[in-house]
Order: sequence, then structure tokens, then C-alpha cells
Amino acid sequence: MKFFVDTADVDAIRELHDLGMVDGVTTNPSLILKSGRDILEVTKEICSIVEGPVSAEVVAVDADAMIAEGRKLAGIAENIAVKVPLTWAGLKACKVLTDEGRMVNVTLCFSANQALLAAKAGATFISPFIGRLDDMNIDGLELISDIRIIYDNYGFETQILAASIRSANHMSEAAKIGADVATAPPNVIKAMAGHPLTDKGLAQFLKDWEKTGQKIL
Ligand code: G3P
Repeated sequence: MKFFVDTADVDAIRELHDLGMVDGVTTNPSLILKSGRDILEVTKEICSIVEGPVSAEVVAVDADAMIAEGRKLAGIAENIAVKVPLTWAGLKACKVLTDEGRMVNVTLCFSANQALLAAKAGATFISPFIGRLDDMNIDGLELISDIRIIYDNYGFETQILAASIRSANHMSEAAKIGADVATAPPNVIKAMAGHPLTDKGLAQFLKDWEKTGQKIL
């Protein structure tokens, strides 16, 4: 499973990238707001760090304006994936932009039917939002499972990009289901390294090592 980082924080992206943990980046208007930076400028900087797809989201709501915004965003760098919402207008924009050879990430997906439409419109990525479904007491991971079955049934090449990931558990479950990509905030990716038995075991090893009186360096 590829790891995308769901942030517009360049320092956090750089840190994870140096560890080989970043296959791509996703941003959205809320993350741009959080960064406090200009969308074109920050997206360009992210694209200079990351080789893989960097999603930049349109904010227009009608298809023609989405297409125009998408073309402008795609002009930032070769590795831009234009992010459009899963509305009828977004699907139209997806079809036009993919026909032009651009990567498109269809976002705000909350149902298997929406994912089916995005694949028919040629989306490069479909972004089902796990956490926001969980927030409503609907199993977000079940949606990832359903989309996996549907895409595999018909050989759709659209990649399932599990989004709105809130916990390390979401990451391993998405990987078990076979999501192609998961996008998570930096703190969730870091939380994947944590285990209380690791901490406990390390504390014991260090205590015993101290007693040997030895040094490695
Ligand atoms: O980038 C979209 C998505 O990952 C948003 O996550 O936590 O705001 O639901 P969240």
C-alpha cells in the first residue's frame, strides 16, 4: 500500500519523505487554510520535495470552472493530481481532465455507487472518507471493502485512496482490505510505530545493559 501524507505542512512532509514514507501528498482547502500559505506557492514547494502524486483541490462548483481551475493547478508541476468533489459536475470535470492526460483524484466519496461512477469517469484515484463515515456510526472500512470488490470484479484501474484516516488501526485495516493508497496525517503515520510492549521491552533491555557496565561506542 502506498502512503500519501494528508497535509500541506512542508516541514512534516520533508521529515517523512527523508524516511522513505511518502509516496505522495494530499491537500484540501481546509489543509491549505491550516498551513496559512498561498495554495500555488505551497503546492509548488511540496511538488519540489515529493516525486509522487500531489493532490491539489479545485474550489469551483460548476464543471467548466472546475476544469479551468484544474488546468491551472496541473500547471504547477508534472506530478499534480487535480482533486475534484464527487458531484455530477465533478465527474464531468474528471472525464475532461483525464482525457487531457491529467491525474484526477475524486474526493468526498461516501458510497460504493459514487466510487463506481468515478471509475467510469476515468478517475486516477477515488478517495472514500473512512473517518467521516465512522463519525456517523457507519463503518468506513466496509466502504473500502465494497469498492475493492466492485473494482476487482470489473478490472477498473482507478486506485482506491483511503482518506479521512484517523488512527493507526485504519492504516492496517485499509492495507488488509487492499486499498491501493492510504492518506493520513503525519501524526497517524508516526503513531503506527508505537507499541507499549516495544516501550516495555526496550526499558528492560536498557536496564539490563546498564548492569553489564559495557559500552558499544
Ligand atoms: O484529504 C481529505 C481527508 O483525508 C480529510 O480527512 O480527517 O478531515 O475527515 P478528515
